[in-house]
This record gives sequence, structure tokens and C-alpha cells, in this order.
Amino acid sequence: MKKIIFKTPNALASAFADQLVNLASDKEVIHVALSGGSTPKLLFEILATTFKNNDWSRLRFYWGDERCVSPDDSESNYLMAKKLFFDPANIPSEHIFRVLGENDPRQEAERYGDLLYKSLPIVNDLPCFDLIYLGMGEDGHTASIFPHEMELMTHQEVCAVATHPTSGQKRVTLTGPVINNARSIVFLITGTAKYPRIKSILKDQRDFESFPAAHIQPTHGHLTWYLDEAAYEGT
Ligand code: 6PG
Repeated sequence: MKKIIFKTPNALASAFADQLVNLASDKEVIHVALSGGSTPKLLFEILATTFKNNDWSRLRFYWGDERCVSPDDSESNYLMAKKLFFDPANIPSEHIFRVLGENDPRQEAERYGDLLYKSLPIVNDLPCFDLIYLGMGEDGHTASIFPHEMELMTHQEVCAVATHPTSGQKRVTLTGPVINNARSIVFLITGTAKYPRIKSILKDQRDFESFPAAHIQPTHGHLTWYLDEAAYEGT
């Protein structure tokens, strides 16, 4: 596990954008799972401006989690990526595999799981992403695996229906085994609000069993924590 600390969210997002550009220059097709939340917004804005004309043709885009809403709903993780990155960078729709948030959640979790088995290389009997990037909530959730649904960290299906603990919003999320089966997992975490959980997981290394983010431990790949000083130092 590697930690990289940045002075500002912009420096963090720029560094990860560079990593994505390097990945996109690879010879193979690259399967990437995107995250939702506010942190990726900065990343998308950098990709769509500084790297707008980059050759993204080898990348295939999926999601680590999606809210069960229509694709034109402001809550949609797909809509955020479409507006901030896919449209400005002219990413072809055939390279984008969104979760159909408008569908029945259980049926969609099954459909998306089947899609992953058909589209991605299979390693250890599970779909294997080249890269999954994740955020972490103040409660230690990641993707849409929340502390009250820890069983999703060991769920036998690669996709499951999750429920947001306060809003009750249904989500479709990748589950722990397929996340941990990725070649590269990157957390993008910024802001002082995340410091208490980061302190428990990365500094004190205790009292973190109930935080899903603490259970992201790749079985054969690499894990990198991209953190700004606010999240890592609490300053
Ligand atoms: C979502 C995300 C979620 C997010 C964290 C952190 O759909 O909301 O996938 O897991 O990554 O809540 O969000 P911020 O980046 O906004 O702190």
C-alpha cells in the first residue's frame, strides 16, 4: 500500500489525471471503474481541459457505484462524468458502460454483474478491472458500501443493491471481492472532514473494522491512497 500526500485537492487531481493519461497510452484496452462524489469533479475538469485532446480511445468506462436514478438526474454519477468529461473530451458512447439507474435495482445489479463478466478479463474467477478509483465518505464508506451493510464487502455477487443510511436512496455498487480483485485501486480523498477516518485507518491503525474503506485490500493488485494534507493531517 502506498500513500501520496498533496498540498491541495487540485495538486492531487492533477497527479491522478497524469496517471490516467499514462494508463491511456498503454497498448491494451483499459477497463476503469469511476466513482461519484465531489472529489472526482476536479479530476474530470482537469481531464476535460488540460487533457481534452488526449487519446482516450483505449479506455472503457464503468462505475464502482451508481445511484438508482435516471441518467438525467442531478444525483447521477454518470451524468456528472458525461457533463464534465465524456462530452468535452468526445468519449464515444460505445466506450461507456453506465449502470442503468432507471431500472429496477436488483435486476440492474444482476445485469451489470453479467456485463462485467462478459466485458472484463477474469482473474481468480472474478472480473478484473485495470483500475478502480474510489472516494471515501466521512463515515468510512466507499463505493456504496456503507458501515451498516458491511456484508457487501464479502458479498458473493460482483454487484449488489445498497441503501444510503440516511436518505434511504438505493444504489447499485460493486462489492468487496471484485473491488479487491482489481490490478490497481486508488483512493482519492480530500478535506478535513475525512481526517478522523484516515487517522484510524492509516495512522492509529485501530478501531477501523467497521469502516468499509479499511477493508479495501487488493488480493493481487496495488493500492494507492491519494490524500491532500487536509485529509491526512487534519489541517
Ligand atoms: C458516491 C460515491 C461515494 C463517494 C464518497 C466520497 O456515489 O457518492 O461513490 O462513495 O466517493 O461519498 O465523496 P466525496 O468525494 O464527495 O467526499
